[in-house]
Amino acid sequence: MEKFTITADLDIYKSIDELPEDVKALMGDAFTARDKAYSPYSKFSVGAAILLDNGEIITGSNQENASYPAGLCAERTAIFYAGAKFPEAKIIKLALSAKSDKHTVKIPTPPCGSCRQAIAEYEMKQETPIEIYFMGETGKVVKANSISDLLPLIFDSSFL
Ligand code: THU
Repeated sequence: MEKFTITADLDIYKSIDELPEDVKALMGDAFTARDKAYSPYSKFSVGAAILLDNGEIITGSNQENASYPAGLCAERTAIFYAGAKFPEAKIIKLALSAKSDKHTVKIPTPPCGSCRQAIAEYEMKQETPIEIYFMGETGKVVKANSISDLLPLIFDSSFL
């Protein structure tokens, strides 16, 4: 038996104000997108903003449904739209912010497992890492330089 240890390399910013100006602006776009979420059931709104290598910014928010599983997270709403609209473009950065109607979200809110898998697919497709920044409504911002730091042991097409 061998032991195998997995580590993640994350940068923690004290607040949005500590971010580089371009990322701060992208996070601002995520805030704007977040406020367009359709989340009457969870009262939890998430916004995503994607910077593409062609300079375009694509945003998305979570869209819920009375049939709960039919809804979609903000990350996949945005990333699927980016893939559909600009299939040749590479994703450079992804900014995420979450807000609740029930409490102030201060803990950085990472993408859920399904969204991590979807982000991983695009990283593999474009063969370059995607910077991921995530936060709550306020407080610290976490940066991952690649989805590999959030989703180790990725299942990808190489296993098929
Ligand atoms: N949600 C996202 O949009 N992204 C995530 O990564 C986590 C969860 C949404 C889905 C649902 O509309 C609400 O947050 C509560 O789970």
